[in-house]
Amino acid sequence: MKRPTKDNWNADLYDGNHAFVSQYGESVMDLLAPKKGEKILDAGCGTGDLANQLHQRGAHVIGIDQSQNMIQQAQHKYPDITFEVQDMLTLAYHDTFDAVFSNATLHWIKQPRQALQSIYNSLHTGGRLVAELGGKGNVQLITDAIIQQIERMDIPYTQEQFPWYFPSIGEYTSLMEEVGFTVTFAHHFDRPTPLAGEDGLRNWIEMFAGSILAEQPDTLKEQLIQQVEQSLREVLYQDGQWVADYKRLRVIGVK
Ligand code: BEZ
Repeated sequence: MKRPTKDNWNADLYDGNHAFVSQYGESVMDLLAPKKGEKILDAGCGTGDLANQLHQRGAHVIGIDQSQNMIQQAQHKYPDITFEVQDMLTLAYHDTFDAVFSNATLHWIKQPRQALQSIYNSLHTGGRLVAELGGKGNVQLITDAIIQQIERMDIPYTQEQFPWYFPSIGEYTSLMEEVGFTVTFAHHFDRPTPLAGEDGLRNWIEMFAGSILAEQPDTLKEQLIQQVEQSLREVLYQDGQWVADYKRLRVIGVK
């Protein structure tokens, strides 16, 4: 997410090159253990693949995302499910859901307390939040290499432009408790993530880190990506493919 007002999410590219995001999300769904008939919000549903799996398992699902492109694609793929463009910070639901499920989205939200409060408000008492997001140190080799090249190339950059929030387990569970959740599970772990093809790292940077370089001319972006590939090849290119240094944070909180 992050879902800037200008929608720069390309839903086709996302489905084509980054299907792994949903595939990994399937194990988060096991943690959710959805029951037939439960009312579940998929918060940050992207193009709807996991919402559809919840639907197949018999849950009543609503998928929300801040990107209109993603929601259009989700609705087109899964016409039987309700999808809505909504901001996680101001969810239009109160005391509505048995569970909120969120995969690979909450790290795009740089006002985490407000997002957690909004999710908490949307749940019934006894309802649960089951979420996975990037944890402290997530993709740090990649982001350090990008920032190092930005500095070398004298491209204007401030820390506020860093698009993500990757909290530690202590930081995030404390925020959850502050808004009212009882935290029943938290796990921070490494999940090296293969990026398909020789262009895997380049595709990842263009898809996810594009906003850092949005104002720069294509020639400069190209130069930067080549430098980043060169500097990371030794550490992140293994047995003929790029492997990103993902670190995940999984949490369950009960209202
Ligand atoms: C993540 O899922 O951890 C992630 C995805 C894209 C950009 C940054 C982090």
